[in-house]
Amino acid sequence: MHPMLNTAVTAARRAGALINRASTDIGKLTITSKKPRDFVSEVDRAAEAEIIKILRKAYPDHAILAEESGAHAPTHKSEYQWIIDPLDGTTNFLHGMPQYCVSIGLLHRGVLSQGVVFDPTRDELFTASRGRGAFLNDTRIRCSKTTKLGEALIGTGFPFRELKHLKIYLAMFEEMTRQTAGVRRPGAAALDLCYVAAGRYDAFWEIGLSPWDMAAGALMIREAGGLVGDLDGGERFMETGRVLAGTPKIYAQLISLLEPFLGKLAKLSKDAAS
Ligand code: IPD
Ligand code: CA
Ligand code: CA
Repeated sequence: MHPMLNTAVTAARRAGALINRASTDIGKLTITSKKPRDFVSEVDRAAEAEIIKILRKAYPDHAILAEESGAHAPTHKSEYQWIIDPLDGTTNFLHGMPQYCVSIGLLHRGVLSQGVVFDPTRDELFTASRGRGAFLNDTRIRCSKTTKLGEALIGTGFPFRELKHLKIYLAMFEEMTRQTAGVRRPGAAALDLCYVAAGRYDAFWEIGLSPWDMAAGALMIREAGGLVGDLDGGERFMETGRVLAGTPKIYAQLISLLEPFLGKLAKLSKDAAS
């Protein structure tokens, strides 16, 4: 295993152990609301601090972008940036729903190069290094071989924070429901992406994600032979927060399915920016 991935795995497992301990007594946790429907607990913060401590110790010169504490710049410019979601699926966690994970990705000169996603409830460790494949625990994983849209199982996330996208999302959802074998919304985007890599879903789409939701999972999909991009197949998903991922044949069909909605979506984003 690449030494940087190895360090990230240690950090993800430590954070996972901390999350597991806290899950036995959720009632005791202090929970605050960042925005409507956006919660953070002391567990998110403690898990993030633990991850950063481990990464910092091993790589003091690397930059870090973490969901709860933001950007940590080293004293001089670094080629490396770690992207951390200490607890993806906080809402599930706070309700005792066992669907959440730790996600750590590494960019090298802006290119995704290492990724780990750890599900502490099932002890499932997803790892990927650029050019070396993706693994679930010690087993190599690959995207599914599904070719027919009507047989494809699709994962998604609802736009529950930015409600301005809800209407257009629901129109996409209707079309997906009509044309595929089914749609699922488990509630932890980083795991959703890993499930595409593992062939559990044939594709996934969501609007309104952040880089820490996607960095590790996106590498996992690429290394498992899948495709990941923006809803139109473009490269900028880490910036736009709109992601489409899937096994190649299904990915291509979903680009066509989503195409009619993209004009309206772009207009909504433009109106919001002006
Ligand atoms: C959220 C989860 C959820 C997705 C949201 C994310 P968080 O992350 O991944 O599935 O729909 O958009 O923000 O806040 O639990 O880390
Ligand atoms: Ca997240
Ligand atoms: Ca989170």
